[in-house]
Amino acid sequence: MRRLPFIAGNWKMNKTVGEALELIRELKVAIAHVKEVEVAVAPPFTALYAVHKELEGTSIRLAAQNLYWEERGAFTGEVSPLMLKEVGCQYVIIGHSERRQFFGESDETVNRKIKAALAQGLKLIFCVGETLKDREEAKTFSVVERQIEGGLRGLGDKELRNMVIAYEPIWAIGTGKTATPEQAEEVHRFIRGKMDKLHSRGVSEEIRIQYGGSVTPENIKGLMNQPNIDGALVGGASLKAESFSKIVRFKEM
Ligand code: PGA
Repeated sequence: MRRLPFIAGNWKMNKTVGEALELIRELKVAIAHVKEVEVAVAPPFTALYAVHKELEGTSIRLAAQNLYWEERGAFTGEVSPLMLKEVGCQYVIIGHSERRQFFGESDETVNRKIKAALAQGLKLIFCVGETLKDREEAKTFSVVERQIEGGLRGLGDKELRNMVIAYEPIWAIGTGKTATPEQAEEVHRFIRGKMDKLHSRGVSEEIRIQYGGSVTPENIKGLMNQPNIDGALVGGASLKAESFSKIVRFKEM
C-alpha cells in the first residue's frame, strides 16, 4: 500500500503575521519543485488568514492548531470549526500533548473536537503519545491504545479517511531526543494494528501515521524509511524555511 507522505509544520505560539508571511514566502520558493509529498503549515490563529492568502495558487495546506467544538456562542477565547474553514483551513491539529498537558484536554474533549472538526468538513491530525514515565514503566502501548480508543470513540471508517494520526512521544518533543526509527516504527505498527482491529482493513492500510518529536533534516530520512512512518509533524525545525524545506525534500537526500 502506497501512502502519500505528509509533512506538517506546527508553529505553536510562534510568528507574528509579518514573520509568518516572511517564512511562507521563503518556503514556497524552497519547495516549489517538490512533488508527491503533501505539505501543511499550522500557524497561530492570528496569522491564519494572512497565510491563507499567501498560499493561494500553491498546494501547501493550511492547518489550525486547535478548535472548540461548538459552532458559535458564549465561549470567550475559543475558535469554532466554522471560523477555521472560513479563513481557509483544510486541517486542524487535535489533541496535541501540549494541549493535554497545559490546557487540561482529555480523551473525551479530544473526541468532541474531532467530531466537530469532521462535521464541518475539516481534516485533522490527531495526536497521541506517551510520557517518559509511561515509557519507563512499559506503558507506552496501553497509553496510546487508551488515547486512540477514547479519541476515536463513535467514529466509523468514513471519518477515519479524513484523518491523519501523529505519534508524538512527549519525551521527544522539543527535547532534541528523537525516538530511534525502530522505536517509532514499533509504535506506528501497533497503531496500525489497532486501527485494523477497530476498523476495516482498507482504513488501517490507508491511514497515514506521522511521527513527531525533534524531527530534523538529519533524522527525517531514517524515519521515513520505516514501513509504517508516513510523514512527520515538525515543531522547532518548521520555524525556518531552510530546515523545514530540507525535511520536505527528504527524498532528495
Ligand atoms: P518538536 O515538536 O519538533 O519541536 O519536537 C513537535 C511537535 O510538538 O509537534
